[in-house]
Amino acid sequence: MNTRAHIGVTGLAVMGRNLARNLARHGYTVAVHNRTPSRTKALMEEFGHEGTFVPAETARDFVDALQRPRRLMIMVQAGAATDAVIDEFAPLLESGDMIIDGGNAHFADTRRREADLRERGIHFVGAGVSGGEEGALNGPSVMVGGSKEAYAVLGPMFETISAHVDGEACSTHIGSDGAGHFVKMVHNGIEYADMQLIAEAYDLLRQVAQYSPAEIAEIFRTWNKGRLNSYLIEITAEVLSHTDADTGRPFVDVVADAAGQKGTGRWTVQTALDLASPVTTIAQATFARAASGQSALRTAYRPLPGGMHIPKTRSEAERFTSQVEQALYASKVIAYDQGFTMIQDAALTYGWDIDFGAVAGIWRGGCIIRAAFLDRIRTAHKAAPDLVSLLAEPGFAEEITAAQVPWREVVATAARRGVPAPAFAAALSYYDTLRADRLPAALLQGQRDYFGAHTYRRTDRQGAFHTHWAHPD
Ligand code: ATR
Repeated sequence: MNTRAHIGVTGLAVMGRNLARNLARHGYTVAVHNRTPSRTKALMEEFGHEGTFVPAETARDFVDALQRPRRLMIMVQAGAATDAVIDEFAPLLESGDMIIDGGNAHFADTRRREADLRERGIHFVGAGVSGGEEGALNGPSVMVGGSKEAYAVLGPMFETISAHVDGEACSTHIGSDGAGHFVKMVHNGIEYADMQLIAEAYDLLRQVAQYSPAEIAEIFRTWNKGRLNSYLIEITAEVLSHTDADTGRPFVDVVADAAGQKGTGRWTVQTALDLASPVTTIAQATFARAASGQSALRTAYRPLPGGMHIPKTRSEAERFTSQVEQALYASKVIAYDQGFTMIQDAALTYGWDIDFGAVAGIWRGGCIIRAAFLDRIRTAHKAAPDLVSLLAEPGFAEEITAAQVPWREVVATAARRGVPAPAFAAALSYYDTLRADRLPAALLQGQRDYFGAHTYRRTDRQGAFHTHWAHPD
């Protein structure tokens, strides 16, 4: 074989194929391999002209095609398939070679694989690749874990093929071992929250303000010109203005209202429980998807009474619309703040040195949650690297202060009217929990001491205390 490839991609389903094409289009020589060779052949036939590919049928040919240190990217299903592919290739590699897992691995698996391969002298790089198939081809956001040495070699490549915003690449080294996949997981959790908040805003505008889907699409288009400007708001307007060709009805009215999930939202919530990280808005968004699919329960609950009908005049509907914009913005700030807090909690637990400004920076392009507002988060973290919360930044604090009354109005209206708004309500409760002078956690501590002698701390003295309760029984 004459041409030595800069990188190899194994696993040529949609994501792998598109990443390989993206690399080749940027001038890299890319070795391509797939368990089933027909996929490799198909890639060569359809897209071989786009750049320099080196097709390889066997694992040995694939490894031999790579320049040293070898850079071998795995784009197969997360879980057992990834382990199987690592087991197949690792014995063929040499010290200093790199395996990059660009799949949707659980960060705990990435930590395990990294530790295992490090012992064998191989760099294992868990890279979260966001943006779906379109992003993989035209510029994803890449959250890279693993060693700094590996990033020094791989970084320029990722930064070349990633999305760019204001000339800056949407790829960065997040931290060691599983940090990249962790941040990708939380990105997806935030995506769940963002989508759910937008869906609740739509539902309230429809049910309370009585707007049609087409009218709500226009409202979202207007919002997209302001501080809510984002890919998700933009595509929401597109979906809401779409008409079903068969029935002539609004598309959103003919779609079954049971939301699917692939699992990264669930991973975020499961991990948050382990870290005691209160990502309540993300959790509600994940549970809302689960609840939508509980058809037997929904049938059982459906006959039960709902809220009050609150007719709105046109001007009241317009006022309510502006309140929903405020509630959506405030809740969105909380959802992102919760996600960043969770990354902070994990950084402490796993010893990751994470630049939060850089994380916000690479989410500005190439991924589903890309939004103008991430630029502000980035600026806030760059200005104060120890920023404990977005709400500790004066600009965000001012906006939330201005939004809090309408935010309460919206949550109260949803409750009175009987429209579910679990993510809005969770975000507001989080805000009220954290701003409270005193929490009823004091009473919980009393209960725990009463039944379990768990002891409590006092506000006026140091130490652990236990009260000898006179139990009624
Ligand atoms: P996508 O969602 O993009 O379609 P995926 O389902 O995540 O892709 O991954 C499918 C890829 O993983 C395929 O390239 C598949 O290889 P085949 O074309 O031979 O099916 C690859 N894959 C899955 N399990 C594998 C395994 N145990 N060993 C090697 N490759 C495997």
